[in-house]
Amino acid sequence: MTEPIQPIPLALALDQNKVNLGKHLFEDVRLSKDNQVSCLSCHSFSTGGADRTLHEVGGKGLGSISTQTVFNSGFNFRFNWNGKFENLVDQIDSLMQNPNVMGSNWGEVVNKLRSSPEYVQAFARIYSDGLSPLSIKDAIATYEQSLYTPNSRFDQFLQGDKQALTAAEQQGYRIFKNYGCISCHQGVNIGGNIFQRFGVIGDYFADRGNITKADLGRFNVTEDEADRYVFRVPSLRNVALTPPYFHDGSAQTLEQAISVMAKYQLGRPLSKQQTKLITQFLHTLSGEYLGKPL
Ligand code: HEC
Ligand code: HEC
Repeated sequence: MTEPIQPIPLALALDQNKVNLGKHLFEDVRLSKDNQVSCLSCHSFSTGGADRTLHEVGGKGLGSISTQTVFNSGFNFRFNWNGKFENLVDQIDSLMQNPNVMGSNWGEVVNKLRSSPEYVQAFARIYSDGLSPLSIKDAIATYEQSLYTPNSRFDQFLQGDKQALTAAEQQGYRIFKNYGCISCHQGVNIGGNIFQRFGVIGDYFADRGNITKADLGRFNVTEDEADRYVFRVPSLRNVALTPPYFHDGSAQTLEQAISVMAKYQLGRPLSKQQTKLITQFLHTLSGEYLGKPL
C-alpha cells in the first residue's frame, strides 16, 4: 500500500565542506549590520529551528509574521509563508537586505568576512571564485539542506515498524487521512508542496478581524485576486516544537490549530477526542537532527 506521506531519507549526499562553512556563516553575527544578530538568533535549534515569536520581516508595512523553522526547509517547493521565493538562495538575498532581519548588504558582509583569514582560506579551498556573495549564499543554502530531521517515530512506522506508534497515535493518523487533512498536508514534508487558501470553507480572516497586509498571502506576490489569503501549506514536521501556529501566530496550541483547520479548511468540526488523537499523532512527527531527538 502506498502512503501519502514519505519518510525523510536517513542520509542526503551533500558537500560536507560546504555544510561546515555554511554552519559558521549561519551562526555568525557579522552577517548583520550591527553585528548583533545571526540566523541562529531567530532559528534556534532548542526551539525546533524557530523562535516562537512574530517578526516584522515580510517587507515594509506588511505586518508581523511567525518565524518558520529552518529544519527540513530544503524539502519545501517554495519559501516563506506566501511562497515568494523559488529557491533558498533568493530567500537569503532578501533576508540579508531586509532591515528587520540582517539589515546589511553584500558589500559590507564580504568586507567583514574578508578580515578573517579562516574564512578566506576556507572559501578559497571550496569555491573557484573564493569568498563572494554567491559562494556565501551557496554555503548557507547547502547547510540549510543539511538541516533535515529523519527517524521520527512516524517515519519508523512508515518504514514498517508498526510498534513505533501507539494504537491512539495510529488512530490519530487514520483520522488525519479520513478527514482530509492529508489532501493538503502530504508528501515528504507533510506540507510544503502546494498553495492553498486559508479559509476554504469559512472566512477565517473576517472572523479573526484586524486584517493586515501579510494576511493577503500570495496576493502580495502575484497581485492576482485568486491568490488573496492563499499560503504555502506549511510542513507539519516537528510541529509540536514550533508554536505559535499559523502565519499570524494566532493559535497557541496544537489543539487550537487543529480545531481552526477542521472548521475553516474542511468545514467539519472534530470532537474533543478526535482532536486529541490527531494531536497525539502530530507529536510523533518530531525527528532527529544528527542522530539526536530535536
Ligand atoms: C529577526 C529574526 C530572523 C532572522 C535574524 C532570520 N530569520 Fe529566517 N525567518 C524569520 C521569519 C519571521 C521567517 C518567516 C518569513 C515569512 O514567511 O515571510 C523566516 C523564514 C526563513 C526561512 C523560510 C523557511 C520556509 O520553509 O519557508 C528560511 C530558510 C530562513 N528563514 C533562513 C534564515 C537564514 C539563512 C537567516 C540568516 C541569514 C535567517 N533566516 C535569519 C525570522 C528570522
Ligand atoms: C485545504 C487545505 C488544508 C487542509 C484540508 C488542512 N490544512 Fe492545515 N494548513 C493549511 C494552510 C494553508 C495552513 C497555513 C495557514 C496560515 O497560517 O496561513 C495550514 C496550517 C496548519 C497548521 C499550523 C502549522 C504551523 O506551523 O503553523 C497545522 C497544525 C495544521 N494545518 C494541521 C491540519 C490538520 C490537523 C488538518 C485536518 C483537520 C488540516 N491542517 C487540514 C492547509 C490545509
